[in-house]
Amino acid sequence: MHVAIIMDGNGRWALRRGRARGAGHAHGARAVRAATEAAVSAGIETLTLYAFSSDNWARPAGEVSSLMRLFRRYLKVETKRCLLNDVRVNVIGRRDRLDFSLLRAIERCERLTQSGRALTLRIAIDYSSRYNILAAARSLGDLRGRSEQDLSKALDVVSHSAVEAGPVDLLIRTGAEQRLSDFLLWECAYAELYFTDCMWPDFDGDVFRRALGAYARRERRFGRLAPAVGEECAKAAAPSAAPLRETVSA
Ligand code: IPE
Ligand code: IPE
Ligand code: MG
Repeated sequence: MHVAIIMDGNGRWALRRGRARGAGHAHGARAVRAATEAAVSAGIETLTLYAFSSDNWARPAGEVSSLMRLFRRYLKVETKRCLLNDVRVNVIGRRDRLDFSLLRAIERCERLTQSGRALTLRIAIDYSSRYNILAAARSLGDLRGRSEQDLSKALDVVSHSAVEAGPVDLLIRTGAEQRLSDFLLWECAYAELYFTDCMWPDFDGDVFRRALGAYARRERRFGRLAPAVGEECAKAAAPSAAPLRETVSA
């Protein structure tokens, strides 16, 4: 199962407590640990977390640089914990605009955790779904005769996805907003969407389990009829055991 999370609401969490937005981001990093551990216990194969969108570069320079520092520190500190939990880390998104020290931390964490099998944790930094789709299409050149798999592979390459993640089954967004903000548009074609008012720093195993519970009650149809409706239709279409009585007399 592939779960993706838009980790939103750090700034509002902090402002409500009379603190600077940076405090929200710092607490948000702790919630990442909680989400990862809950995903491992739930037996989820892939967890993709939206940490920084390509549009987030438009935020004040101070906020951007403190987020970049936070990512670097997170990757350094969490590598050990990921190794203990058998978690493989993979950062997706553009790398050409990241600071050299962050790049080094990403590469180190990915290298050390590459044999993790319990969970693939994908962290999206400088990520834009539209950018990826356009870059992937461009990299394929002439699109005639190209399969959906070709495009998926090209998307993995441009977003640096070392592991093929496949479509998203459940997309969670915290922070009381209901939009995708350019996240995994291709992969979410049939994702179940779950929105919660919980601000990201308050996210924990309980919120995660509630989302998984809601997902378990959904009926995924992928364009087909619901099984119960399908059975009804099949019954109605099947010839009945007793032949219909001739109503027209000769
Ligand atoms: C999400 O929290 C984290 C990032 C986008 C980096 P926000 O910073 O967007 O928090 P709000 O939406 O302002 O509360
Ligand atoms: C989306 O949150 C990006 C991340 C959570 C990293 P934003 O807070 O940037 O999204 P918008 O601007 O409200 O759509
Ligand atoms: Mg936000």
